[in-house]
Amino acid sequence: MSKKKLARGTLLLKNDVASINYAARIIRRGGTVAFPTETVYGLGASALDPAAIEKVFQAKGRPTDNPLIVHIENSAALASVASFVPDMAYLLAEHFWPGPLSLVLLKSDFIPPAVCAGLSTVAVRVPDNHIALDLIRASAVPIAAPSANRSGRPSPTSWKHVLKDLAGSIDAVIRSPGCVIGVESTVLDLTSHDPVILRPGGVTREELEQVLNRKVAVAGASSDSETPLSPGTKYRHYTPEVPLILVTGSGVKVLKVVKALRQKYETRGLKIAVLEASLTAARFGRPADVKALASGLYGSLRSLENSGVDLIIAAAVKPRGIGMAVMNRLYKAADRVIKVC
Ligand code: TXA
Ligand code: MG
Repeated sequence: MSKKKLARGTLLLKNDVASINYAARIIRRGGTVAFPTETVYGLGASALDPAAIEKVFQAKGRPTDNPLIVHIENSAALASVASFVPDMAYLLAEHFWPGPLSLVLLKSDFIPPAVCAGLSTVAVRVPDNHIALDLIRASAVPIAAPSANRSGRPSPTSWKHVLKDLAGSIDAVIRSPGCVIGVESTVLDLTSHDPVILRPGGVTREELEQVLNRKVAVAGASSDSETPLSPGTKYRHYTPEVPLILVTGSGVKVLKVVKALRQKYETRGLKIAVLEASLTAARFGRPADVKALASGLYGSLRSLENSGVDLIIAAAVKPRGIGMAVMNRLYKAADRVIKVC
């Protein structure tokens, strides 16, 4: 490996074989390494080492009652992290792994309680990123990894975002091009009779329903619109440093209100940023536009907060496909939601 670079004490690693092996040694020795996945950057530590897990919670400032996702190399490793693996889990793994789907299962004794915040369950997934997979293989342990941001901040989709939040608090970060999907994995609870989406994410409800050939419920969705509920659930998340107003409702009216709000605040001398990708996605509703919005969402929020604006305005998209994950994150990021009838 070439000369090591540091950012406030955090090692900046390349993503070649030697660097990944080096990162794996850090993990095996109880350290913390931020690594890319297809969704967002994760902050990894050995899932078998309670002291390393404690470092992850400390670095993020994460409430200790919020459990971590365990990342494994393939579905063969499920049997060691879970005490019971229903057939449905293998079916889903076959279709969606490697990929952005975390399955909540009954945990095995192999996984220490600290990883799962004392719960009897564990969330597990196989990431679809060759650097992440090489790191898991080289570490030879399952890797527990939350998103690599300070708790409450937008998740990181580049190593630069990781450094902004965590430089000096973690041992290393592996540099790589950005994360493609841009929002986190779907968390699906398989511990009861009926599967339930606990967090919408990269694998859509429609995709799950197609493979399972049944309806899949979303926890916390209001029964009328099936839109994930607005902020105020347990923790605020994904919050940029600048206030964000979310305008929800149907198509053209939303666009009009966004325009009017911009004018109103600009006349008051405020610098306004409109989340342009949300306008495009709201205007046309094309799947490709919603995907692009998801992919750039956290990066946009982070760059807007650095651009000197006073207020960010975002338009709602339909909570279908990946749009459900986008809306879940926008609701949680919003300081104010304006509903246009
Ligand atoms: O895409 C992702 O999932 C990223 C990458 C790094 O894999 N990870 C991620 O981790 O988003 P985190 O910690 O930021 O979010 C994990 C979510 C939290 O909402 C947590 O409450 C939930 O998964 N979770 C973890 N274990 C759980 C469990 N046993 N039961 C219910 N929810 C769980
Ligand atoms: Mg997170």
